[in-house]
Amino acid sequence: MASVWFTVVILISIQQVIAIYRDCGEFQNLKNCNDCIRCGGHWCNDPNEVQRCSKDTPDTWCKGKVEKLPALTRAEEKGSILNPKYILQTLEIGSRASLNFTFPSKTNEQKVEYVVNSTQNSDFQVTKQTYCQGETCTTAIGAAPESTFCAADGGTYEFFHVKVSIDGIPDSSVIKFHVPCACTCSEAVEAQSPKCNRRGSYSCGVCTCQAGWTGPFCEQPICEKKRGDVPCTDFQRSNTECSGNGVCGPCDQCECFTDREGSRYFDQDNYCADICMTTNYCDQCLASPLPGQCQDCHFPLFRLPYNQTLMTYKDDFNRKLWIKCNTTINDCNIEYAAMRDNNGESFYMIINNCDPVTGEQIVGGVSVTLPVVLGVIAMIAVAAATAGYIIWKNRTPPMPLTDPMYQNIDAEDCTGENPLYKPPTSSFKNPTYGKW
Ligand SMILES: *[C@@H]1O[C@H](CO)[C@@H](O)[C@H](O)[C@H]1NC(C)=O
Ligand SMILES: *[C@@H]1O[C@H](CO)[C@@H](O)[C@H](O)[C@H]1NC(C)=O
Repeated sequence: MASVWFTVVILISIQQVIAIYRDCGEFQNLKNCNDCIRCGGHWCNDPNEVQRCSKDTPDTWCKGKVEKLPALTRAEEKGSILNPKYILQTLEIGSRASLNFTFPSKTNEQKVEYVVNSTQNSDFQVTKQTYCQGETCTTAIGAAPESTFCAADGGTYEFFHVKVSIDGIPDSSVIKFHVPCACTCSEAVEAQSPKCNRRGSYSCGVCTCQAGWTGPFCEQPICEKKRGDVPCTDFQRSNTECSGNGVCGPCDQCECFTDREGSRYFDQDNYCADICMTTNYCDQCLASPLPGQCQDCHFPLFRLPYNQTLMTYKDDFNRKLWIKCNTTINDCNIEYAAMRDNNGESFYMIINNCDPVTGEQIVGGVSVTLPVVLGVIAMIAVAAATAGYIIWKNRTPPMPLTDPMYQNIDAEDCTGENPLYKPPTSSFKNPTYGKW
């Protein structure tokens, strides 16, 4: 029990240290205006400047864009015996002030006292020095706020008071130091700023990027490859690799279009394959006249009689539910419509059974992207079939294809024979095909 308490106490004290601790050692490492000011530096609001915080302000550095700190007009009030009675002065961290107080004196031995209090940490160097000449003495009060003066939650400016009193003199004097502890610019934060490519908020010339982005202008993606992801590698960033349904994005991931017919079904994890590509793959089903579920497909695929009314159905985002597709099987051009429901069950309706094929159509039907897509579909098929097998075995509610369960299964995880999996290259002549 004692050791538990010990740990707790240590943790609390470490946290307190971290809250106050600010590394003011290297000014070029300070990336935040408030920290820079609290360390006694000057802040540059120009995002193009490499060094943003500097102890000095050389002429060549950050022209016209150095953050101006709030300063109060200096004020001074005369006193009757101890003079002055009151001083208000702005004093930045890293600067030093020296203020003189005079008073009449008969002796050279004067006892000068001062008391300090502050709205922040009392990390303020104060010195006093008194010398007398004739019947007048002068006390010089020196002051310099340290880099630990401003607390992490300090306001735009804070105060530090020094009260000076002299033995035998009823009057006392007060110096009110006004210390900038934060930048005015920190108060103006522009969310989703165009200066940060709309990927972060902008303040004091600094972009604070949203998740997934970094760089001075949030121009650089942070790419995290997840297991099972399929990278596209097209350096020209052309869209052919993404099935013509998307572009190869900055993280070598296909980013599918969202505004195309059928974009509802574009598969982000499979080179933006559309529902026609996926369904065409089960060509034995498309060639089959049987209604109901087709057993020759690696995903649940059902045939419905053609119903034109269904073709007009839209989802909540006004996207078509049924997509028109084409395929050529045994020299026959089959036109059909396909859709997939939220349970991952796919349906198709044959619109046209068998149109005579012209040479042009064959060329048009075989897309350049097909080999890539088929390879991936093969991999996905293994994964989907494995998952499918479990699902069908247990008969729990079917899972959508987009379920992470599918994506997380790599092809290499599947070693044994899967009764549901049909190799993608198998060709199967349907004996009943062509009899209608
Ligand atoms: C087509 O589908 C709609 C909606 O499901 C249904 O009301 C209609 O009866 C169907 N038409 C035919 C001819 O089956
Ligand atoms: C589908 O076939 C029709 C003609 O039957 C053709 O006009 C259309 O371009 C084809 N679509 C695709 C995607 O091949």
